[in-house]
Amino acid sequence: MGKDVIIACDFAGAKETFDFLDRFPGKKPFVKIGMELFYAEGPSIIKEIKARGHKIFLDLKLHDIPNTVKKSMAVLSGLDVDICNLHASGTKAMMKAALEGLTRPDGTRPLLIAVTQLTSTDQEALEKDLLIHEPIDQVVLHYAKNAKECGLDGVVCSAQEAGIVHEVCGEDFLTVTPGIRFADDAAGDQKRIMTPAAAKEVGADYIVVGRSITAAADPAAAYERCVREFAD
Ligand code: C5P
Repeated sequence: MGKDVIIACDFAGAKETFDFLDRFPGKKPFVKIGMELFYAEGPSIIKEIKARGHKIFLDLKLHDIPNTVKKSMAVLSGLDVDICNLHASGTKAMMKAALEGLTRPDGTRPLLIAVTQLTSTDQEALEKDLLIHEPIDQVVLHYAKNAKECGLDGVVCSAQEAGIVHEVCGEDFLTVTPGIRFADDAAGDQKRIMTPAAAKEVGADYIVVGRSITAAADPAAAYERCVREFAD
């Protein structure tokens, strides 16, 4: 695992998703299934995408009391996904409970990573909306250290923080980084962005790319460009 491009399949339903995946003949990109698609289609979409041979990051970003998260993770452990996640801001008690719930009776489990601060959040929103006055990279790092202490496998952070997270939490602690844009793309709602090539330079393990691939005129070419810049 690691050094791969994950395509964010932010589609409204199964048809749009399979039409999209059909545009990658002979390729099985690692895909991210988020709330929109999972809420629309339920677990069947996971089974169908797995049956087609893709690895899946199930991005449901759980955040609730520890007991609820533990039980929900136990349900998700029955799906054949490779990575799932929660919000680190749900506290260490919640992250520990999540890991317990996710671990199957035979000891195996999907990788579990924690969202630190959304890549759509900037310093101003952190201070004004959330009343957090520390520099954003220090907040991300603090959440990453909490996640590591709880036994999680890594974090979702912006590529801008991947270097410092690896420095403090170790090279094996995964950094999964959304907020990726080609130099000639619009940022949209994302604030802490980086190009695939720059994300490679700072040592991100996975880049999560949505609209730069899904909205491209030629998604397969945009994916190949990402792979070339980031993973080759
Ligand atoms: O289209 P775009 O490349 O901005 O998509 C980014 C994807 O990564 C979206 O699916 C979004 O939900 C997800 N994500 C994010 N920031 C996080 C965690 C996940 O943008 N911190």
